Amino acid sequence: MSNTAIAEATKKLDRKGYLSIDVDPTLDLEAEIKRLKKEKNCIILAHYYVESELQDIADYIGDSLQLAQKAASTDADIIVFVGVHFMAETAKMLNPKKKVLLPDLKAGCSLADSCPPHLFKKFKEKYPDHVVVSYINCTAELKTLTDICCTSSNAHHVINSVPEDKGIIFAPDKNLGAYLQKKTGRDLVLWNGACMVHEIFSAEKITKAMVRNPDAQLIAHPECEEHILQKAHFIGSTSQLLRYTHENDGQKFIVATESGIIHQMELKSPDKEFIPAPPNNTCACNDCPHMKRNSLEKLYLCMEYELPEVVLEDWVIEKGIACIDRMMEISKKAGL
Ligand code: 13P
Ligand code: SF4
Repeated sequence: MSNTAIAEATKKLDRKGYLSIDVDPTLDLEAEIKRLKKEKNCIILAHYYVESELQDIADYIGDSLQLAQKAASTDADIIVFVGVHFMAETAKMLNPKKKVLLPDLKAGCSLADSCPPHLFKKFKEKYPDHVVVSYINCTAELKTLTDICCTSSNAHHVINSVPEDKGIIFAPDKNLGAYLQKKTGRDLVLWNGACMVHEIFSAEKITKAMVRNPDAQLIAHPECEEHILQKAHFIGSTSQLLRYTHENDGQKFIVATESGIIHQMELKSPDKEFIPAPPNNTCACNDCPHMKRNSLEKLYLCMEYELPEVVLEDWVIEKGIACIDRMMEISKKAGL
């Protein structure tokens, strides 16, 4: 790719957050992506919530912790993150010298947006002796105000690593925070944030689905509200939910998390039935609009032009990485 072509492509990036370049409709996108992967020594990391065709082409699919661990250990020259912005930022913080690409820069996160760093800074000042534990679903700048990061896979290990006599602020997810309070018995000061996807489930419709399917188990992500979690047979991160459906004897599961994970559940357990938990609205889907901004076409363009790139200021990387490193150590000790 010539410098002029890249400069022209950069102009097409400005407002949209992704490259708005027409793609030849006869191109075999999957073959092109595979070619670019080899040519440029890229690794494609994808979260369980993205479209199934993107999961199928990825080098590695995982939950937030697994993807961060993979990003930390890869020797690829370019990391292509098929997920959302905070995940790509984490990969960049772990690999400051590598190019980290995100097919659509507008693939954000309502949970990360619910905790603006300038407001959180003021909130934190009210509890000067507290340890700050932040869910990885937050901006890189919030990570600079955080002592230890966590994901839904390791959150209780992280909380338990804080000395008992220390107070803890937990941000930004109030639902995961409330769940952790119950699970660990610790008194957490909670930031009032939430995920738009996990707050959409209707307890009433789930109850009806359970009555209609008495042989089904309800499984839920801890980002769901407490009244949903109370009904669940099993609560866990996406990778824990996936493992549970595979290892458990049950044949039918009502899945209270983003619907993208069902693709992997069906691949792992083709004879089992997976029912997306019904949401409050009339749409029958539990899609994260941010995750779903990724597409094969955007992935191809981003690999071809090496744009859009996730770029962070040096001070953000230098200060923010400490909380991620602590999380990685705790996870390693816990065997995760
Ligand atoms: P996990 O990947 O930790 O299960 O979290 C789910 C999520 O909401 C990612 O955005
Ligand atoms: Fe953020 Fe929720 Fe989407 Fe995850 S599912 S990226 S927490 S908005």
